Amino acid sequence: IQEETLNKIKNAYSLNELQDIKVEVLGKKGSLTGVLRGMGKLSKEERPVVGEIANKVRETISAQIETKSDVLEEKVLEEQLEKETLDVTLPGRPVQAGGPHLLTSIIEDIEDLFIGMGFEIKEGPEVETDYYNFEALNLPKDHPARDMQDTFYLTNELLLRTHTSPVQARTMNQYEGNQPVKMICPGKVYRRDTDDATHSHQFTQIEGLYVDKNVRMSDLKGILDRFAKKMFGQDREIRLRPSFFPFTEPSVEMDISCKVCNGEGCSVCKQSGWIEILGAGMVHPRVLEMAGYDPEVYSGFAFGMGPDRIAMLKYGIDDIRQFYTNDVRFLRQYHHAK
Ligand code: PHE
Repeated sequence: IQEETLNKIKNAYSLNELQDIKVEVLGKKGSLTGVLRGMGKLSKEERPVVGEIANKVRETISAQIETKSDVLEEKVLEEQLEKETLDVTLPGRPVQAGGPHLLTSIIEDIEDLFIGMGFEIKEGPEVETDYYNFEALNLPKDHPARDMQDTFYLTNELLLRTHTSPVQARTMNQYEGNQPVKMICPGKVYRRDTDDATHSHQFTQIEGLYVDKNVRMSDLKGILDRFAKKMFGQDREIRLRPSFFPFTEPSVEMDISCKVCNGEGCSVCKQSGWIEILGAGMVHPRVLEMAGYDPEVYSGFAFGMGPDRIAMLKYGIDDIRQFYTNDVRFLRQYHHAK
């Protein structure tokens, strides 16, 4: 048995094979186990002699199995290491880097422009009170411009702001009626619109407010002209059309001239050659007064623009929903937009 088994062990190729040999010889029904069990049938004199031999054989075989098992385990490990080597000279896979959302880029560009003109950046809450969203802006409870249809009311007094204009009143309150205010405020606004290519129930606005002694309409026009040229190109003109907002008087809407140029030349983008871009005006005396500014001493202008609309016009994007469905194939096109 010993000779045959040691031979088998020597030739064993795998740990499985070795295990089989072990069972075959030393297992419950193994050949050596059989010998040991048969000892009972032997005579008293024969028993110790055979027992000693059998035990020696078992020890030898066990030790040999142990040694071989170490060798085979080593071999398995080596094979595994061989298989799993890394080729460190392979080129790496490119990592997809993220980038700012197009609206974020547009807002940051506009912020840069206005910071350069001495404006500070303000923020206000998206969940706003009825007072700041409407009342403080000269839109009393029964005012027709306060169309219930457009507003997401949360409670009687709380709503999702429908524009960034409440930040005008909040900032003026903060400065307590005796300091100049020069701020812009970007942020999200909400309206109860049915979403389609040109409407979204959530979009962005940037509010602007400049209050000081002797602020005039011409200051507004000058700043808006700079804004239009920076955003759309030096060849753009602006025009102000009379309009109405309860919180400004007089109120205007600003158009910019629009040209579309291609290889064959330039044509205007709309029949009129002008496209509406924002609402603005001189801060209404009532609004100044409610915020604690004396309209006899202070005057100001305000404007509100929509970065969504600006981005759509600037890049020819025809569906506002693109900004909010966040398909990276769309967004990635504008990662380096300036
Ligand atoms: N809040 C106005 C709107 O949402 C825009 C506006 C802001 C007009 C400031 C005048 C002055 O349409």
